[in-house]
Amino acid sequence: MTTLKIIEVKNYDEMSKKAAEYIINKVKSTPQLNLGLATGGTPKGVYQNLIEDYHQHHTSYTQIKSFNLDEYIGLNKDDPNSYFHYMNEHLFKHIDISLDNTHIPSGTNENTQAECDEYEQKIMNAGGIDLQILGIGANGHIGFNEPGTSFQSKTHVVDLAPSTRKANARFFNSLEEVPTQAITMGIQTIFQSREILLLASGKAKQQAMVQLLSGEVTESFPASILNNHQNTVVIADEEALLAVKEMSLNT
Ligand code: PGA
Repeated sequence: MTTLKIIEVKNYDEMSKKAAEYIINKVKSTPQLNLGLATGGTPKGVYQNLIEDYHQHHTSYTQIKSFNLDEYIGLNKDDPNSYFHYMNEHLFKHIDISLDNTHIPSGTNENTQAECDEYEQKIMNAGGIDLQILGIGANGHIGFNEPGTSFQSKTHVVDLAPSTRKANARFFNSLEEVPTQAITMGIQTIFQSREILLLASGKAKQQAMVQLLSGEVTESFPASILNNHQNTVVIADEEALLAVKEMSLNT
């Protein structure tokens, strides 16, 4: 079994509140925090809670540096499906973070290798990531690191798995519109974060939770590397943990 620290919450709203509280406490205790951010459906509620707290309690982000996990290749910054656009809409424009301190790989730099190398360097130059927020793919991906990605990988270009494109098609008009490639922080980049907060909600994440929490570490399930990380917290809701519980009842 896993040694990961698991916080079980009732539902998506509770997961979002708990994760936001966790982040807010860090931001308050370390105003110069390097914060790793994620996109997708999972963290939307977290960002909503950060914004509400900002309005109510004026938690300040002026000295925070942020680094996003990934970006689609081929989508420019104002494309509504780019992660640049997502971050502005769901968080950045609502709080006092300086846009100069926010970092997201560019999906339109034609020299993708240079973009990857520079992104990795920027993280290093900032002193590494203090707290990384992660979602998890049904196939175990973290960032866009699909199954089979080396645990030693740094920021790199990936071909998106058909299942990932299908899962993300809900945000686009059609499956064809979902880009086929992305730039993502590598697994090593993520693993070097001093602290990691992985969030999971809902039925679609049940099997991923079973595999993650089995404790087996394998490159065929990228998130499994977190079992070797010293400071990872999983916040998962009842539905996401249902299959894990059923299995432990039956053994
Ligand atoms: P989701 O994606 O938050 O949209 O479920 C998570 C992920 O793919 O990492």
